[in-house]
Amino acid sequence: MTKSLNAIAQKLMTTGMGILAADESEGTIGKRFAKINLPNTLDLRRDYREMLFGATEAMKNYVSGVILTEETLKQSAADGTPFRAILADADVIPGIKVDRGAFPMPGEAGEKITEGLDGLRQRLEHYAELGAGFAKWRAVITINDIAPTRNNIRANAHVLARYAMLCQEAGIVPIVEPEVVGDGEPGNHSMERCAQVTGDVLENVFKELRLAGVDLAGMLLKPNMVLPGLNSRDRPTVEEVARRTVDVLKEHVPAAVPGIAFLSGGQTDEEATAHLSAMNRLAGKPWPMTFSYGRALQNVALRTWAGRRENFTAARQAFAHRAHMNSLAAIGEWTN
Ligand code: 13P
Repeated sequence: MTKSLNAIAQKLMTTGMGILAADESEGTIGKRFAKINLPNTLDLRRDYREMLFGATEAMKNYVSGVILTEETLKQSAADGTPFRAILADADVIPGIKVDRGAFPMPGEAGEKITEGLDGLRQRLEHYAELGAGFAKWRAVITINDIAPTRNNIRANAHVLARYAMLCQEAGIVPIVEPEVVGDGEPGNHSMERCAQVTGDVLENVFKELRLAGVDLAGMLLKPNMVLPGLNSRDRPTVEEVARRTVDVLKEHVPAAVPGIAFLSGGQTDEEATAHLSAMNRLAGKPWPMTFSYGRALQNVALRTWAGRRENFTAARQAFAHRAHMNSLAAIGEWTN
């Protein structure tokens, strides 16, 4: 089993390819739709995902895996073709978000703890039968005057480890996502503070993963980049972000991990691409690094689609462009 987990992880990290995060919960996709004045209906959610997954050339050339929600994993295109079949045709591995969201943690710090362990073993068995090759669980780490607390870091790290071992038991590769959030409130922290918190979080996460007996060769890490908060006065260059991020990861992420797939976390589309490319130009990294972007791959395609099937072709072109740019970034060859 270890070997097949590692094989899935390696395939997700195929050179020049990355992961499309299309696992927005019903609530989150509803917020994205509301911004373009669309109602949050089952049909529109289906159409939107059909637009993305039907971008055949982009999917074949640049996307190794797609993270889905349970709704989408079981859904079909308007003509009745299951999304799983569409993805299989493009040789894309289907993945599944299995956490149930981040909920307020008791206390004064405004922190969150991710829920969803109850019944997870049974759900994972079911997802494996449906063909899911990998899963995702996102922990949210907040920075403010008192956060993150030690308690919150430890609680989230522990839950990530319990999730990861259950995934591996089911033959599913866990993507371990501890996100130090940069676009939250107040968001005025410096890049250095993000570096320190990210390092601390990763240290705790790998400690818990080891304690739980998680096979590091059969997982992927989905971290944030090291960035100042969105409202900070810090304005690091692309190269500074790249260097600081890779430094922190090198210090805390074991070389046994087969790959790192970043989240975009509120960066502009071009920033997310530029940072990834700059990181991949740096020498001496023990793991390949690629994208596992949600917004940075979808923003323009979503607006171009605007809820209309007649815009599918144009929206797919917009998506293909971003996927291509990020594919170049995954090999350090993107330039603006
Ligand atoms: P963003 O790239 O939009 O941050 O989303 C990636 C993701 O999957 C967050 O869990």
